[in-house]
Amino acid sequence: MRADIIRRIVEAYDDPIVRVYCWARFWILRQRFLHEIGQYLPEAGPVLDMGCGFGLFSLYYAVTAPGRFVRGVDLNERRIAMARRAAARLRIENVAYEEGDARDFKGDGEVAAAYMLDIVHHISPDTVPPLLGRLHACLPPGGVLLVKDVDTRPAPKCWFTWALDKLMAPATPVRYWSADELGGALRAAGFEVRRHAMRDFLPYPHVLYIATKR
Ligand SMILES: C[S@@+](CC[C@H](N)C(=O)[O-])C[C@H]1O[C@@H](n2cnc3c(N)ncnc32)[C@H](O)[C@@H]1O
Repeated sequence: MRADIIRRIVEAYDDPIVRVYCWARFWILRQRFLHEIGQYLPEAGPVLDMGCGFGLFSLYYAVTAPGRFVRGVDLNERRIAMARRAAARLRIENVAYEEGDARDFKGDGEVAAAYMLDIVHHISPDTVPPLLGRLHACLPPGGVLLVKDVDTRPAPKCWFTWALDKLMAPATPVRYWSADELGGALRAAGFEVRRHAMRDFLPYPHVLYIATKR
C-alpha cells in the first residue's frame, strides 16, 4: 500500500528527469527509512518540511497522516512550482509550499514538529546555529525537530556522499557536520538530542537526530 503511495507520488511529476530523481530519492530514503523517520512525527498538526525540494517526502508524510498539515519551504522556485503541481494532481490538500530561504526563516507561527532531510550540509555552516534556534522557538515544549543528514565518518562513506552531491549540483558548496558537532549545535539551541543510526547497505553515513524541545 505504501509502495503504491510512492509510485503515485513519483508519477505526479511531469518531467522524466525529475521522476528519475524522485525514484532515486525514494530509493535512498526508502520506505523503511521513511517509517523510521516518520515514527517521530505527530499524526496531526502543522509540520514544517524545511528544504522540501520537489516535495516528495512532504507529500508522503501528508498522505500517510491526513491529520497533519505539512508546509514545505525551499529556496528553489522551480522545485516549489513542481511540488505544488504534484500536490494538485494528487488532490492532496493537507500540504502547502512556499519559496523561501532557510537562512531567513523567521520562525513565524507555531508548528507541532519540523524536519530537515539532507539540508544542513547544503547551508553555510555559520547560518545553521541561528536556524536551529529559530526552529526551536517555533516548537511547543515537547515538540520535535528531526534532522536527517550525513556524518563525516566513516570517511569513505562521506566521500561517496560528496561525489553524489557534486554529481547532482557541481557548483553548490557542501559542508558535512560530524555527528558530535551537529548534535552539539542542536543541544546549544536548547534541544535534548538522541541519535538514531539508519543502517544502510548503501554506503551512506546517514544519521537521524531526534531533537526535542525541553
Ligand atoms: C539534497 S536536496 C533535499 C531535498 C529534500 N529535503 C529531499 O530530501 O529530497 C537539498 C535541498 O535544499 C534546498 N536548499 C538549499 N539551500 C537552501 C536554503 N538556504 N533554504 C531553503 N532550501 C535550501 C535545495 O534547493 C534543495 O532542494
